[in-house]
Amino acid sequence: MRTTVGIIGAGPAGLLLARLLHGAGIDSVVLESRDRAYVERRQRAGILEQGTVDVLRAAGAGERMDREGLRHDGIELRFARRRHRVDFPALTGGRSVMVYAQTEVCKDLIALQLADGGPLLFETEALAVEGAGGDRPRLRFRHGGAGGSEDVLECDYVAGCDGFRGVARRAVPDGRTFERTYPFGWLGILADAAPSHDELVYARHDRGFALLSMRSPSVSRLYLQVPADTDAGDWSDEEIWDELERRFETDDDWTLRRGHITQKSVTPMRSHVHEPMRHGRLFLAGDAAHIVPPTGAKGLNLAVGDVVTLARALVHRVATGSEELLDAYSATCLRRVWQAERFSYDLTTLLHRAPGATPFDDRLQVARLDRIASSRAAETDLAEAYTGFPIG
Ligand code: APR
Ligand code: PHB
Repeated sequence: MRTTVGIIGAGPAGLLLARLLHGAGIDSVVLESRDRAYVERRQRAGILEQGTVDVLRAAGAGERMDREGLRHDGIELRFARRRHRVDFPALTGGRSVMVYAQTEVCKDLIALQLADGGPLLFETEALAVEGAGGDRPRLRFRHGGAGGSEDVLECDYVAGCDGFRGVARRAVPDGRTFERTYPFGWLGILADAAPSHDELVYARHDRGFALLSMRSPSVSRLYLQVPADTDAGDWSDEEIWDELERRFETDDDWTLRRGHITQKSVTPMRSHVHEPMRHGRLFLAGDAAHIVPPTGAKGLNLAVGDVVTLARALVHRVATGSEELLDAYSATCLRRVWQAERFSYDLTTLLHRAPGATPFDDRLQVARLDRIASSRAAETDLAEAYTGFPIG
């Protein structure tokens, strides 16, 4: 087997890269270790920055998103029983975000790729990237589970879009990792309940952080900060609703709508950056190169920025023979990645209660939130970062 770009992983990064290359007439093969149903069901954040929305539309993947996605012009910060709305368009010259789940983005991209695109092979696990430093990289892979058959895909370039636990990163020698783990996680639920507010609510409370989000007008997505080693099964449905109610409490008449909980899981929180994002003809993109804590929902948007930059560079190479943009790929992406790392870290430490936090720390957090609520400059900084940094 041979292709121009071998892509490992059919998450948002790999799927979108395949679309962008197909649109430019460059062939690719996508290898995905899991089956289609698994990829289409995996719950992740669902906030698309304005730039991500524009990219998906331009890639021909915006039709259902524009029909079913929910445009949001702001978020609410909740602290000290008060509510403060951050108005994105007013602060950023008209920018907003779109609430459209990552599962739906993946479903749309998979359908497009299968209908009109290069091979997308599920249950096909990349085992290793070989010869990335030379001009003939090879992807060794296995089809059909543990007892399946092994084969090789010869490529001009390899895109490692295989997430945090993938194999591509291992093929970048002399790389450096920068990381931080947080001493807490998020207990996330999906519930058959109409969202209790029409925009996302980020709540800071002495008992810990809580987030109100949504998947549709009838499905709520909610999160609670919990200790890192929490087992989701330790929390009964009633305990979860009671705790959410406490952390979202306000002085006005706002109420939390409860409903049947259909899914419960705990997400660990970490920041992780691998530098450089390239070795020879292998390029890392998305979670394979960097992880952000979910506060601020930057993961998918970073992946989109990476593959737009990579597609542009590959198209430039094929059209002109110049490696200039490929050479700039890692540095170009990392500049934006670190802005997202900084923002996700700031928002995480602004809203979460660290174990051992003192009453002094609590007061400082409230003062930081108060500053955002009372200074247009501070609020603009948040709105610009939340709606997204430019790609490239
Ligand atoms: N061979 C083939 N596929 C693999 C391998 C392998 N060895 N290892 C991992 N994969 C697949 C995973 O099964 C997964 O489907 O690679 C895919 C990686 O997808 P994601 O983890 O979603 O990573 P990415 O595409 O970078 O997504 C970026 O979007 O999903 C959101 O918030 C999420 O931050 C994440 C972002
Ligand atoms: C989500 O809807 O899952 C979500 C929204 C915003 C975040 C994180 C997750 O900051």
